[in-house]
Amino acid sequence: MLTLENKVALITGGTRGIGLAIAKLFKNLGAKVIITGRNEERLKELEKENFLCYKCDISNKEEVDRVIKDILEKMNKIDILVNNAGITKDALFLRMKDEDFEEVVKVNLLGTFYVTRRVLPSMVRQKYGRIINMSSVVGLMGNIGQANYASTKSALIGFTKSLAKEYGRKNILINNVAPGFIETDMTAKIPEKLREEILNKIPLKRYGKPEEVANLVAFLASDLNTYITGQTILIDGGLY
Ligand SMILES: NC(=O)c1ccc[n+]([C@@H]2O[C@H](COP(=O)([O-])OP(=O)(O)OC[C@H]3O[C@@H](n4cnc5c(N)ncnc54)[C@H](OP(=O)(O)O)[C@@H]3O)[C@@H](O)[C@H]2O)c1
Repeated sequence: MLTLENKVALITGGTRGIGLAIAKLFKNLGAKVIITGRNEERLKELEKENFLCYKCDISNKEEVDRVIKDILEKMNKIDILVNNAGITKDALFLRMKDEDFEEVVKVNLLGTFYVTRRVLPSMVRQKYGRIINMSSVVGLMGNIGQANYASTKSALIGFTKSLAKEYGRKNILINNVAPGFIETDMTAKIPEKLREEILNKIPLKRYGKPEEVANLVAFLASDLNTYITGQTILIDGGLY
């Protein structure tokens, strides 16, 4: 049976979209769920729903260090880490500003690194852990206007594979989930004409829902997954 009873799970970028769907499902499956994000109002609202919430910009390493130290003091352990927080700053490559490229790398790649290196030691100590990184189909197929975003999302594939090799012997399973186009604030920014074009290329003829991604993440995070590690699993309605 799929259960997360007695597990402590940290989800970065859990204030909305895919991260929030994962947080809600994890809580329903019995986990103690910690959410991080930047929006203080949202975090306060979510605290009322029994999530432990922390304001934490993952691109700020001092803030990450402080918050994770605090979480570990309070909870004693983190069994599951979902590196979900991510941003886009789209532009055609020759028009892309330095800041747009740097900012996306700072959050999507460096942020994932900052969080993971602080959480891993506690997993190593207890010889148990599940890490799920949030890549994207765009990291595998590229996308016009997303050279920055695609670079970070394919970098997560190498990151995941390397850590899976290093920490398999410590019973820490590390996988990458690569969603296609999912209905969230992130994809709401896509212009209507482009949306139509994308839809035509998706065999299932619809965008995915955050809850569908959450179901896959829950399986990978649970003890039903005992032998999948270092993989990038697509959930894209057949797009790629
Ligand atoms: N939607 C898609 O189609 C799709 C497809 C493939 C992959 N993904 C990936 O899935 C993940 C979630 O995407 P989404 O569509 O749910 O996005 P979203 O609706 O835009 O939500 C992004 C989440 O990330 C948080 N976040 C952003 N920057 C952060 C930072 N510097 N520090 C901490 N938290 C930060 C936001 O929190 P605050 O607002 O509180 O800051 C929010 O909770 C991302 O990694 C994205 O790249 C999405």
